[in-house]
Amino acid sequence: MRLRIVKYGDPVLETPCEPVPEGEFGTPELRSLVSDMFETMYAASGVGLAAPQVGISRRLTVIDCTGGEDRSAKVVLVNPTILSGEGEQVGEEGCLSIPGFRENVARPSTVRVRAFTVDGEEQELESEELLARVICHECDHLDGVLFLEHISRFKREWIKRKIRNLKKRGEWD
Ligand code: NI
Repeated sequence: MRLRIVKYGDPVLETPCEPVPEGEFGTPELRSLVSDMFETMYAASGVGLAAPQVGISRRLTVIDCTGGEDRSAKVVLVNPTILSGEGEQVGEEGCLSIPGFRENVARPSTVRVRAFTVDGEEQELESEELLARVICHECDHLDGVLFLEHISRFKREWIKRKIRNLKKRGEWD
């Protein structure tokens, strides 16, 4: 089932998420949420989607940098923690909750993350390039942080002003 993607302005996007409780690991509800999140992300042509973006304030994110081309590229991170980030890459970033706006953002070039699988198995993942960027972006979402926080205040205010105008015209909800 496709879920509604929450847009910038909804407080859920700027609220730190609660961990997925251990008791929910492996449940049909968690599995179906993950599968709905993948479906929603693919339909929106995204490469990552975090639970708060579908209005659920839980530390859960789905990622696929191939956009569905390669099933083995599917990544699910439950209660992730970034262990380390090294180097720097600068590249354009967007967000399904802030459609139409893209800006250059600096991120570590390699990132090591620890997370649980849907079944509650602990895993560690080493990532680089786009995957490292997406992991940082999605883990930020779980802390209530948007990519707008990583760009200059000038650009941020410009984007916020544009969004306010879109809202006034009823083109942002
Ligand atoms: Ni995003």
